[in-house]
Amino acid sequence: MTMKKIYIIALVIGIASCTASKLTVPTQADADEAQKTFPGATLADISNGKGLYEQHCQSCHGLKTVTDYSVQAWHSIVPGMVQQANEKSPNSVSENDERLILMYVTSVRR
Ligand code: HEC
Repeated sequence: MTMKKIYIIALVIGIASCTASKLTVPTQADADEAQKTFPGATLADISNGKGLYEQHCQSCHGLKTVTDYSVQAWHSIVPGMVQQANEKSPNSVSENDERLILMYVTSVRR
């Protein structure tokens, strides 16, 4: 294999790893933040919310960057998007899933 080919392969791998989604992993501090709006929210809830966000919210447009939208904006965006997701695959996102997704995007702000 020529050096040029090796270089190209390395470049492609580099690009692939950069574009892979890297969502912030929730911590207990995020759960404490979430509890202000969602009484009783746990770290497990927010972690589930992250998983649901990855599962249901990227098929149409990729994962939107959480911090590109204010907390207030997320409160109005999420219900409409859940509706979009459920039109595409009926009943795929439950009311509880919606709540957990909202918890993730509004409490993990880094
Ligand atoms: C069935 C397709 C579809 C699914 C599934 C979907 N969206 Fe969207 N979403 C759209 C379209 C279409 C737009 C408008 C074009 C754009 O901004 O990419 C949009 C826009 C957005 C925006 C930008 C809103 C704005 O005002 O700028 C956000 C944030 C968003 N979606 C979040 C989500 C979240 C969270 C989920 C999961 C609950 C989700 N989307 C699932 C189709 C979808």
